[in-house]
Amino acid sequence: MLYLNGKFLRTEEATISALDRGCLFGDGVYEVIPVYNRNAFRLQEHLNRLEASLASIELPNPLPREEWVRVITEVIRLQDYDDQSVYLHVTRGNAGERDFPFPANVSPTVLINPAPLVTPSAAQKAAGVRALSHADFRWLRCDIKSLNLLPTVLMREHAKRAGCAEVVLFRDGWLSEGAASNVFVVKNGVILTPPKSQLMLPGITYDVVIELALANGLPLEVRAVSEAEVRSADELWMTSSTREVLAIVELDGQPVGEGRVGPLALRMDAIYQDFKHQVMRVGKE
Ligand code: PDD
Repeated sequence: MLYLNGKFLRTEEATISALDRGCLFGDGVYEVIPVYNRNAFRLQEHLNRLEASLASIELPNPLPREEWVRVITEVIRLQDYDDQSVYLHVTRGNAGERDFPFPANVSPTVLINPAPLVTPSAAQKAAGVRALSHADFRWLRCDIKSLNLLPTVLMREHAKRAGCAEVVLFRDGWLSEGAASNVFVVKNGVILTPPKSQLMLPGITYDVVIELALANGLPLEVRAVSEAEVRSADELWMTSSTREVLAIVELDGQPVGEGRVGPLALRMDAIYQDFKHQVMRVGKE
C-alpha cells in the first residue's frame, strides 16, 4: 500500500501522469525515513528537511505538519512488515504540458511509498565495504534533497560494477560527502567531518552521529577535511538512514588505515545501535 495525492492505494492501482514535472524535469524533492518497529526515526527532523528542500525550490508545502504525520503514520500502519524505509516525494505536479517555468494553479504530486528497510548485513558490518572516489560534479545546491539524481545514479552504477558500495566525493581537493551518504574520517583518534553547507546534504544520521559522539565523549571536530586527510585516514565511515554507520575499508583499491573496520567505527556503531533500540522500545523519535 502507498499514499498518492490524498488516497491510500495498492501499488498496482497508483498511477502518475506522464506529464508530471517530477517525471519531465525532476522538479521535486524527496525524503527517505527509516522506520524501526513501526516508529519513524527522527520524523520531525526529516519533515524539517523536507520543508527546507521545498522552500529552496519555491514549492509551497502541500500538507500541514500534523497531516504529514497522520498520513505517514497511516501508511506505515498499512504495511505488513515492521521495519520500513519510507520514501516520499513532492513534485510540482502535472501541468498538462512541457514548459519550464512554474505552472499556475497546479496541485503538487505527493507520493509516500514504504519498502522493507534493508540495513547492512552483519557480515558487511564486520568486514566493512569498499568505495571509489570521484570528483563531485553535482550542482552547487547539494543541500536540497532534489529528485535530480543522475550523478548519483551514474556514480553508484560504476561503483557497483567495481564491487564498491559507495562513492566518496571531492570538490576542489575537499571532502564533500558520499554519493548517497555523509562521510566521517578518523585521524589520530579524532573523528572529523565537514560542516554543513550548500555542498552537502544535511544528513539526519550525520546529526545523530555527531550528537552521540559528543554525548559519549568521543573526540570530534566538525571542519573542512582535505582529500589528503581522507587518503591518509585511519578510518573512514559513511552514514545514512539506510546504511546507518558503515566502515569503508578500501578506497580506490587502497586500504584505509589497516584495511579493516577500526575501533572507533565499532564503538560508534555499537552506540548507534543502542540508541536505535532505546528509541524502538520507548516508541518515540
Ligand atoms: N540518501 N548525502 C546524500 C547525497 C544522500 O542522498 C543521503 C541520504 C545522505 C544521508 O542522509 P540521511 O542520514 O538523512 O539519510 C547524505 C538517502 C538514504 C537516499 O537517497 O536513499
